[in-house]
Amino acid sequence: MIAAIRGTHDILPGEVEKWQLVEETARQLCARYGYLELRTPIIEHEELFAKGTGESTDIVQKEMYSFTDKGGERVTMRPEATPSMVRAFVEHNLEQTLPAAKLFAMGPMFRYERPQKGRYRQFHQLDVEVFGVNDPAIDAEVIDLAWMLIAALGIERAELVVNSVGCAQCRPAFQEALLKALGDDLPRLCEDCQRRARTNPLRIYDCKVEADQPIIDRLPHSIDYLCEPCATHFRDVRAHLDAFGIPWSLSHRLVRGLDYYTRTTFEILGQALGAQNALLGGGRYDGLVKDLGGPDRPGIGFAAGLERLVLALPASAAPAVPARAFVVAIGDDGRREALVLLRELRAAGLAAQMEFEAKGVRAQMKRADRLQARVALIVGGDELARGEVTLRTMANGDQRSAPRADIVEIVRGLLT
Ligand code: HAM
Repeated sequence: MIAAIRGTHDILPGEVEKWQLVEETARQLCARYGYLELRTPIIEHEELFAKGTGESTDIVQKEMYSFTDKGGERVTMRPEATPSMVRAFVEHNLEQTLPAAKLFAMGPMFRYERPQKGRYRQFHQLDVEVFGVNDPAIDAEVIDLAWMLIAALGIERAELVVNSVGCAQCRPAFQEALLKALGDDLPRLCEDCQRRARTNPLRIYDCKVEADQPIIDRLPHSIDYLCEPCATHFRDVRAHLDAFGIPWSLSHRLVRGLDYYTRTTFEILGQALGAQNALLGGGRYDGLVKDLGGPDRPGIGFAAGLERLVLALPASAAPAVPARAFVVAIGDDGRREALVLLRELRAAGLAAQMEFEAKGVRAQMKRADRLQARVALIVGGDELARGEVTLRTMANGDQRSAPRADIVEIVRGLLT
């Protein structure tokens, strides 16, 4: 037997209904907030992520599924959606053609991470992005959409954390302060942190190595180094959240593991997810569109991990079994008529099934039970000769006869 690749998974019937619930809820909310769906390819030029996600990130350094294709081109299976969304926004000049550059996408992402609960190598995201809006009200709208999603799914005890990582103007002073504060401790940090100190000191906050934590806890906080415009922006974002009644807390360590962030960063953390507790994360990225060759436009967005949303769903979120009928055939004549009735029911928009292999009525009824059919229609024998069909209500076993000609409408009444 050839098994699925480590870190990938099949989403089986029984589980997939929860996914559909999450996806449907996300789609409805995005539509309500005015976000349009954009679908981008799963493979892109490697350069898009090297530049977009950032050379100093763990994703680009260690986790990308990159390969040389048969034409000799370096391509990457997307580890995240944001660079692709930016590319499409620029490539199709969407700011001219769309009424508002508010977009969402859903689909698989690929990162070569160590698999564990809530962390996979192929996982799925809902990605939401807005281009071209500086106003802090859009930061609040995006965070509100994320918060609404969690609430609409009935996920309880979720926690919103926010931070601001400043901009190109104030970042250098913060980085300098970080390095200064590290001072003699730097050689004691892990190898990754040594590299981070050289390439992007902010990334030191991504470190998960236990021994490094006491040193990192003593490092300065980005919000103490914000320039005036960044400080005002962040104050306004928090004021909007307060006005919306969305509870938040400040997390100094929330620099997020991607290089493009500026100003607002945020995550919503869930309970019962173990170490991988981020249901979603995002922030502002005011330089990325320009860095990727587009016009100088700000951006903000977030991505939610669909696996994690599904894991966090309350047990009560199990989708209801759809109401359906089951057609039982007696004898060959009955079977011919049963097949015709089955098709009539379906053509009328009703869910109906039949058993093709088992011949006995008992075996057919057993299948109806397993399918949790609401009503069984028994076709055949003397009744059929009289132009009638037997209706059996599965919940209580009640049976009655009804004219064949009226069956579809009677079943419609029973199922809807
Ligand atoms: P991210 O924090 O790397 O951000 O990922 C967002 C979410 O995707 C995480 O909070 C988590 O729920 C889920 N996720 C990430 N990696 C895995 C994994 N290996 N297995 C399962 N779930 C995972 C981004 O991707 C940014 N593009 C978000 C963004 C959009 N920022 C601005 N716009």
